[in-house]
Amino acid sequence: TFPIAVLASGTGSNLQAILDTVHGRDGIEVVAVGSNVADAPALERARRAGVETAAFPLADHSDRAARDTALADWIEGRGARLVVLAGYMQLLTPSFLARFPLGVVNVHPALLPAFPGLRAVEQALAHGVRVFGVTVHFVDEGVDTGPIILQRAVELPHAREAGEVFEQIHAIEHALLPEAIRLIARGAVRIDPADPRRVLLDR
Ligand code: GAR
Repeated sequence: TFPIAVLASGTGSNLQAILDTVHGRDGIEVVAVGSNVADAPALERARRAGVETAAFPLADHSDRAARDTALADWIEGRGARLVVLAGYMQLLTPSFLARFPLGVVNVHPALLPAFPGLRAVEQALAHGVRVFGVTVHFVDEGVDTGPIILQRAVELPHAREAGEVFEQIHAIEHALLPEAIRLIARGAVRIDPADPRRVLLDR
């Protein structure tokens, strides 16, 4: 089996898509859902699906390093092989990432490397782009800089408000993130040995 952990800070609609479409199929099991926010709705979604949850607010720990060590210990203890960031809105420390080598993926609501960081859709709108999109990538020590696994674009030439863009973006995310997880679980995703910036897909 392929046990995964999901980290989420907010609503958890991407977590819900994972629970609904990959959890319990093809050997993939969500074994842990963690958050930095104690009352994140995502945690309630996990509990409803019978998945173990825990919250690791920064304020409960001496610093970020200590918090991320506790978080990594908890995830490792649940046996997860992959960590999925589904709207997890804090940076992970390099020592957390070192515990899961090439085993942390993130979904970002823009076509990276355009518009990294927070409020990506708002950044894209402010720039006047006509093509929006979603990126699923491995997490490295930078902000949304790791090797890209999957991307999908959507043309919205007349979009004016973040809400209308997010409606389309969420629909794409809810398909693309589960797809990436299935590919990784199947062993169909690897880093190009000739160029570690690049991901090779065997589909
Ligand atoms: C998603 O749109 C995700 O792409 C974004 O947070 C949202 C979480 O929604 N993540 C980032 O912006 C990361 N930089 P959800 O809680 O409904 O899954």
